[in-house]
Amino acid sequence: MSSLEVEIERILPGGYGLAHAAGHTVFVALAAPGDRLRVRVERQQGNVLFASIEEILVASPDRIEPPCPYFGRCGGCDFQQLTYQKQLAAKAEIIRDCLHRIARLENVPEIVVRPSPRDWRYRLRATWQIDREQQRIGYYERGSRRVCDVADCAVLLPELQATLERVRATEWPKFPSDLKHLDVVAGENGVSLSPAFAEFATAELELTIAGESYSYNAAAFFQINPALLPPLIEFALSDAAGNAALDLYCGVGLFTLPLARRFARVTGVEANPVAAKFARRNLQRAGLENARVITAGVAEWISAKPLQTDFVLLDPPRAGAESVVIKAIVESRAERVSYVSCDPATLARDLKKLIGGGYAIESLAAFDLFPQTHHVETVVRLHLG
Ligand SMILES: C[S@@+](CC[C@H](N)C(=O)[O-])C[C@H]1O[C@@H](n2cnc3c(N)ncnc32)[C@H](O)[C@@H]1O
Repeated sequence: MSSLEVEIERILPGGYGLAHAAGHTVFVALAAPGDRLRVRVERQQGNVLFASIEEILVASPDRIEPPCPYFGRCGGCDFQQLTYQKQLAAKAEIIRDCLHRIARLENVPEIVVRPSPRDWRYRLRATWQIDREQQRIGYYERGSRRVCDVADCAVLLPELQATLERVRATEWPKFPSDLKHLDVVAGENGVSLSPAFAEFATAELELTIAGESYSYNAAAFFQINPALLPPLIEFALSDAAGNAALDLYCGVGLFTLPLARRFARVTGVEANPVAAKFARRNLQRAGLENARVITAGVAEWISAKPLQTDFVLLDPPRAGAESVVIKAIVESRAERVSYVSCDPATLARDLKKLIGGGYAIESLAAFDLFPQTHHVETVVRLHLG
């Protein structure tokens, strides 16, 4: 594969540095805006060359020495080469780019990404890949399914790092023979692993966020960075109140509980039966009898009958909402919609349809739930135009 000299213009959705050379668009992994680089072309897709850094010719002023010894090989972090301020600026640019290019918004509102109180040792939840044959435990290597053996992961909360060390100290015959990965999550009262093995249990945990108490375990989704959840919930719900609200992709009820304090009737919908069970229990323990949780895929549930709701909160996985879900929201004529998203590209795709269906953006906020990576959480509040 050939080498090229390039200058990085900006960071794109997906976290790549953008450059142009020899009539091609070049996407460079792990770059900083302003870097002059010699890059090696790894593959070509249409006119786009995907490249990796061979040599830094002139380092960007925004570039720092990545502190993690696994950086570059491990597929977990891709922003450690940037100062934290530049990471936030790059994420604002990624959201702006998606809203402009995919949602076709002409006037993209000013975007400020709220920083995480901790930019290291913040992660409450992780998935550790296991390669029993090679006796490796860690994360997939960049662009591959090989497991990068990681002894110390600098973004994990200290209690998860201690658990990683205990898992790594476990004798290999004690690992189930078919174990491919472990989901792990921390709470106020310990750490939970799924599947359970050796001395590691899928323990039930507790965490209080913005005055609400949540129980969950490693078999259910929980947000990665708890420190930013109170302002995120506050922004997403704002002054919403009224008769009926929907919480789509509700997990263990992070938004369902505060919604049930503001609306007369709330329905949460969640596909994972473990998460749905915790959501019901969390509501019950809070004494909130005006909310129900349906265990179902949102697309299947929403297609069954027309919606009647004043407010919709949706927080889908990275793939965004299925098109039937957006169609049903538009047809419901719900007064207000709050879209919580961990992927600006799918968010922008869905916003385009909501705006086409008569909704207008009221306000937008972004939260850095994922320091050291290109990922960012965005919340968009919409109202019927
Ligand atoms: C990004 S999480 C949000 C969970 C919750 N709102 C929270 O903040 O904790 C997405 C949730 O959607 C669930 N999910 C994924 N696909 C789904 C589907 N098609 N229908 C319903 N729930 C789904 C996942 O199990 C997960 O709990």
